Amino acid sequence: MKQIDHIGIAVKDLEKSNALFSTLLNRVPFLQEKVDAMKLSVSFFKLGDTKIELLEPLASDSPISKFLEKKGEGIHHVALLVDDIHAEMNRLRKEGFQPLTEHPYIGANNKLVCFFHPKDTNGVLIELCQPIA
Ligand code: CO
Repeated sequence: MKQIDHIGIAVKDLEKSNALFSTLLNRVPFLQEKVDAMKLSVSFFKLGDTKIELLEPLASDSPISKFLEKKGEGIHHVALLVDDIHAEMNRLRKEGFQPLTEHPYIGANNKLVCFFHPKDTNGVLIELCQPIA
């Protein structure tokens, strides 16, 4: 585990939240894209060595739709940067943490990602991410 890569925030309206966070942080997002695997539209703001990710669902069966229904807008996950996502997944599995998918997949910002169930981590959904070379 190297550092916090980003904090993910679930939002209902990405355009509105982009404007809000642009004012808050006094900068514009450096990236906006769709993540097909999760049926999301996301944006990223750089903040020093870390980032803030805003996530808006694009379909009612997106995991973010379910989150918004249950909990409303707010912090959705904390993403940790790793060198070797496969090795870290294996290590955490052995420690009893439960990944939400068997294998990592292509997520936002050109990274391999996987998520770990929040029930094992004091209610915080954890993302591991590794840049794709
Ligand atoms: Co993320």
